Amino acid sequence: MFPGRLLPLECVPLVPRFYLTTAIDYVNSPPHLGTAYEKITADVIARFKRRAGYRTHFLMGADEHSLNVRRRAAEQGLTPLDYCSKMEETFRAVWAKLDISFDEFIRTTEERHRLGVQKLLEAIRARGDIYEGTYEGWYCVSCEAFKQEKDLENGLCPLHRAKPDWIRERNHFFRLSAYRDRLLALYREQPEFIEPAPRRNELTRVLEAGLADLSVSRPGLGWGIPVPFDDRSVVYVWFDALINYLSATGYGADEAGWDERWPADLHIVGKDITRFHAVIWPAMLMAAGLPIPGRVFGHGFVNFQGERMSKSLGTAVDPLEASDHFGADPLRLFLIREIPYGQDGDFSWDRFEARYDADLANSLGNLVSRVTSMAARYREGRLAPSARSRLPAVATAGAASCRESMEALRLHDGASAAFGIVGAVNEFLTERAPWTLARDPDAGRALDETLYEAAEATRVAAALLRPVMPKSCARIVERLGGGAMPTTLEEEAAFRSDRPLSTAVGAPLWPRLSRRRPRSGA
Ligand code: MSP
Repeated sequence: MFPGRLLPLECVPLVPRFYLTTAIDYVNSPPHLGTAYEKITADVIARFKRRAGYRTHFLMGADEHSLNVRRRAAEQGLTPLDYCSKMEETFRAVWAKLDISFDEFIRTTEERHRLGVQKLLEAIRARGDIYEGTYEGWYCVSCEAFKQEKDLENGLCPLHRAKPDWIRERNHFFRLSAYRDRLLALYREQPEFIEPAPRRNELTRVLEAGLADLSVSRPGLGWGIPVPFDDRSVVYVWFDALINYLSATGYGADEAGWDERWPADLHIVGKDITRFHAVIWPAMLMAAGLPIPGRVFGHGFVNFQGERMSKSLGTAVDPLEASDHFGADPLRLFLIREIPYGQDGDFSWDRFEARYDADLANSLGNLVSRVTSMAARYREGRLAPSARSRLPAVATAGAASCRESMEALRLHDGASAAFGIVGAVNEFLTERAPWTLARDPDAGRALDETLYEAAEATRVAAALLRPVMPKSCARIVERLGGGAMPTTLEEEAAFRSDRPLSTAVGAPLWPRLSRRRPRSGA
């Protein structure tokens, strides 16, 4: 456009960055399938974004300053910090088994986090939005939340089915009420700030009903981050926890460079805590004069036989039990395929087995083994390029639809677009019957085309499913001659007809189940 001239700096294409986070878990019990669901979905997004060319940073962590953590530590005769360090190992081991590829893990007991929390609190105070007052009312320790009478059902916290504590204490308050109109304007002007839409509607109604100021300190009980201007108090655990997303960038600890990562592009959290992230968190940032995150996505709940999954209700499914029996990839696929992202879904061993058999053993797994074994039997694993059938168009359209859905966080639609290609290849093979072509000496060309196109379209489907099933899809792509991984998903998931494929037969990826379900649970 401007031959011989340097482009102005703002026109130099930058690699887009993408900073995404999950909720940081309370560590008073190990992860269950519900908490794991959140991390798996965020991991699929992170893997997709990396392959889509974004400089991605994926943060997870542990929320350690809760009262339940302190109680659990005392029950085990450990100091809270020792207990949390032990739990960190447990959490990290589960995330490793489930192939969660976080780039950073933050604990709220880390020094860098304390510095960030104290700095933000001071910044808000300096701008006049922290004041002293008295809180009198209900407090649910399991939610770690102040509750109003209208939040209770028959006097109980509806989530934990327990009676909250009545407390009266002298605290520091955050002037949350002053941010109501700015938050309503934010939802109106930037609707993608909270997704999916039902959460936005729900929170709009909450805001319209009015916002009370929020107590942001609790009496110091020896566990928590000290309020910098009041050594009798610690920072309220939610105020502390939300700041992890910011303190992980170095805010408060590293004056130079933290804002290169901030603001976050996407916070993935459950629907029960969307309010904290879409009301309190942006107000805290506005009050400190900092930029707010791009989007908060409130996913739905994984239930077990219709009940909310929870340790205390006895309805928790151990994610490791499921992944040890079926593998991490089938579990990841199940959760993505079965639950439209943003809605609730149910886990049952029956549904899990049915999906495994249908999608993996009978469909994708069977296709890979048919294609590679025919390629070996009829062509010694060497397939010459061709693109004459309908499959190149099917694969290209499927790849576009998968990428578009993933980009829009419709993860279930993304996976089903990839499975659409798998279904089309299966049909194509049934129609073309390569086993019959192989017996006809005049059908050599047709056999070449059929095998090449089936193998190449299957490779495209596996490339698209890689963020969901990283290990098995890498294996499939390799067996179908995919070679070294191209840098972007766009390149890897393009149907190519300009190079021969060299395929390899391997052990069955997903043997059919013969009732291998674990004994506990259902
Ligand atoms: N510590 C807070 C989050 C602080 S974030 C600044 C917390 N922790 S939690 O351990 O209770 O929950 C962690 C995440 O798991 C939350 O996003 C929560 O919604 C999610 N889930 C807990 N049970 C779940 C299901 N049964 N299904 C799906 N997600 C669930 O809240």
